[in-house]
Order: sequence, then C-alpha cells, then structure tokens
Amino acid sequence: MNRIHVFHGVNLHLLGQREPDIYGKTTLDEVNGRLIETGQTHGFTVECHQTNYEGELVDWITKLTPADFLILNPGAWTHTSYALYDAIKGVNVPALEVHLSNIYAREGFRSHSVIAGACVGQISGLGTDSYFLALAYALEFQKYRQKERNSNHEAGKDSPETGRE
Ligand code: DQA
Repeated sequence: MNRIHVFHGVNLHLLGQREPDIYGKTTLDEVNGRLIETGQTHGFTVECHQTNYEGELVDWITKLTPADFLILNPGAWTHTSYALYDAIKGVNVPALEVHLSNIYAREGFRSHSVIAGACVGQISGLGTDSYFLALAYALEFQKYRQKERNSNHEAGKDSPETGRE
C-alpha cells in the first residue's frame, strides 16, 4: 500500500547500449538506483522491475491496488497492447506513462499510445528525466493521498466497508 512501482517493458534492459543516440548512455540499473534513492529520501518505497514478457507485466499490474502508484514505460507494447490498457483499468491504479524518446517525433507507428487513455498522464522525450519527473509527480500524489487518509482517519471518516480509503 502506498508504494510507487516503476515497471519497464520490453527491451528496456538494453538501456545504455541500445541506440544511445536515442535512448542515452545511462543503464537501467543506474536509473532504478536513482529512483529508489529519491523515493527513500521522501520516505517512500520505490520498486523497479523490467520484463520482456507481456503476460508477466500484466500479472504485475493486476496485483497492484488503487492505493499504489504506477510509473510505466511499456517500450514497444505502448503501441500494441490493449492487454496493458485493460490491466491498468482493471485495477484502477493511477498510472503515469513514461518514454525516454519523444514518441511523436519518430516513426509513425510510435505516435499512437494505446495505453494513454488508461493513464493519468504521459511524459515523453526528456530522456531519463522523464522517469525522474514522473517520480516527482508520484511522490506529490502519494503524499497528498496519505495526508487525506490521515485527516479522514482523525475525523472518523474511514470507509465503512473496508476501514481504508
Ligand atoms: C520507448 C519508445 C517506444 O516507442 C520504444 O518501442 C521503446 C522505448 C521510450 O522510452 O522512448 O522501447 O518507450
């Protein structure tokens, strides 16, 4: 609960060596390390995972709850995967779509994201800063929800069904 998850999809394990002129030279481990460290500084757990298996990503997403926050770079699945759209909608988790490259300034097939409609927003084209800006937003979002939850709790307004938000 209240965690921030960063899921990287297909081919993002190649970050640092894959088309560095487009994706930069920073490795995925370096990106994840900085995300986790920044989260810790703000008192939040940030969990980062990468997979090349679409079904595995669906499994991870569908285990999330609305109290979590998801930062998601699906890689090429951005442009093809209705399954990811359904998974995000299915668990009603706030999700922020992230891309290192500007997907609107590249090949035509990249300029459509099939998951965008399931996400609260999208950050595209800022290199690794796309992830760090996404995390800045996620931290503010989660801090706000935590504050709301605490003040509802103090006022005795917890949800009668679950005792949670
Ligand atoms: C990407 C953009 C996608 O079009 C591409 O297939 C990727 C990476 C990005 O971060 O810029 O794998 O999601």
